[in-house]
Amino acid sequence: MNKNASMPILPVEAYTSQEWFEEEQTVLFGNTWQFAGLAEDIQDPGDYLTVQCGHQNIVIVKGRDQRLRAFHNLCRHRGTQLLRAVGKKQKALTCPYHDWTYDLNGQLISVPEKDKEFPDLALDSICLHKASVDIWRGMLWVHPRPDADAITKWFQGVEAQLGPHQVERLIEYPDSRLEKVIQANWKIVAENFMDVYHLAHLHSNTLHMYDHAKASFGFVGDHYVFWEPHAKKYGENLDALMPFKRIAEMTDQHLGAYVPWLFPNFGLSETESSWSTFHAIPLAPDKTKVIIRSKLEPMTNWEFTKQQMKSNMSWHGIMGGKTKYGDKPDPQSEDPMVWNDFMEEDVYVCEQQQKSLKNPLFNVTHTAKLGESTVRNFQSIIARWMQHAEPSN
Ligand SMILES: [Fe+2]
Repeated sequence: MNKNASMPILPVEAYTSQEWFEEEQTVLFGNTWQFAGLAEDIQDPGDYLTVQCGHQNIVIVKGRDQRLRAFHNLCRHRGTQLLRAVGKKQKALTCPYHDWTYDLNGQLISVPEKDKEFPDLALDSICLHKASVDIWRGMLWVHPRPDADAITKWFQGVEAQLGPHQVERLIEYPDSRLEKVIQANWKIVAENFMDVYHLAHLHSNTLHMYDHAKASFGFVGDHYVFWEPHAKKYGENLDALMPFKRIAEMTDQHLGAYVPWLFPNFGLSETESSWSTFHAIPLAPDKTKVIIRSKLEPMTNWEFTKQQMKSNMSWHGIMGGKTKYGDKPDPQSEDPMVWNDFMEEDVYVCEQQQKSLKNPLFNVTHTAKLGESTVRNFQSIIARWMQHAEPSN
C-alpha cells in the first residue's frame, strides 16, 4: 500500500484498516442517530426489533401504552444479548442465559430462584440501560444515548430539501426489499452516492431520465442534499414512462428526484413514483451490506404487475436501448456494465476502487471542482468527527 496516498482528504488507511473501522464504530456509529426501519415494522405492544449502533446493539419495543422505547440489548445480570433480531407481541423480555425477565418498560420483574440465590436483590432497582428512539418521516431512528438531541434537531434544515412524499401513506411491496454485500468500505459506497461527477458518465445509459447538468446539491449540517429535474424527453412523456403509479404529492411543481445522504450512512431516493431507503451497514473495513426498501403509491397487485411490465419496455424503447458498453442490455453477460442496471454499475466501480487501494501505485490526483466537491466535503466531515466527535450544528 502507498502510505502517502490519500483519498483525497482522508488517508487510505481510513478505508482499509481494522483500527479505523473500530474507531468509527465507537466515535461515529455509537454517537449518531441510526436508521432502524420503517414505522410500520413495529405495530403492536410487545413487537420489537434490534439494530446495531456501532458496538452497541439497541432494541426498540412498543409498550402496552403504545409508546416506543429503546434499550441497550444487554441483560443487566451478566451482559448477555437479551433479544434476537425481531419479535412480535412479546409479553416480556427474557434473557436466554438465566431467564432474567424484564417488562416492556425495561424494568426487571423476575429472576429464577431469587429468594435462594439473590435474597437481597430488589427487582425494582434494576432496569435495562435506556437509549433514544424517534420517528422521523415515517422511519424509526435510534441513538445509543438516552439524552440524545431530538431527531428534529439532528435533521434541522434537511426536511425542507426533501420531496413532498407522505411516507406513512405509501405501501411497501413485499418483493421490493433488496440486500447486497458490497466488497468495499462503507465510505466508498457513500462517496459514490454523493459523486455528482459520475452520473452522466458511468450511468450515461441508465440514469438518462434526469438532467444532471441542472442538479442542485449541497450540505445542510453534515447531511448532503441533492435534487435534479427530469430530462426533457422523459418529463414530456412522464405518464407513459414512469415505472409506477404517480405519487399523489408529486404535483408538477415538485417533480424531479430528491436523493439525499443523511449522515453518516443512509441515503434516500424520492422520485415521482417511488420512495426508497438505502442503508449502508459497515461489516468490515472492506465490506458493506446495503439494504434497500421501497414504498409506492397504494395500488392493486394487478396494477403493480402491469406497471412493472410497461416501465421495462417503454423507456428502453424510447432511448434506443443502448448500454454503456454494448448495443443492447445483456443480463447474462459477465460484464455488469452491460446489465443496464445503474446500481450494479455503482457496485462494480466501488469494488474496483477498493481493490486498487492495495496497489502501491494508487493515488488520487485531481478531483472535480464542483462534481466531486461533495466527496471532499464528506471526507472533511468524517475527519472532523474522528478528531472531535461532535456535530457541526
Ligand atoms: Fe452511481
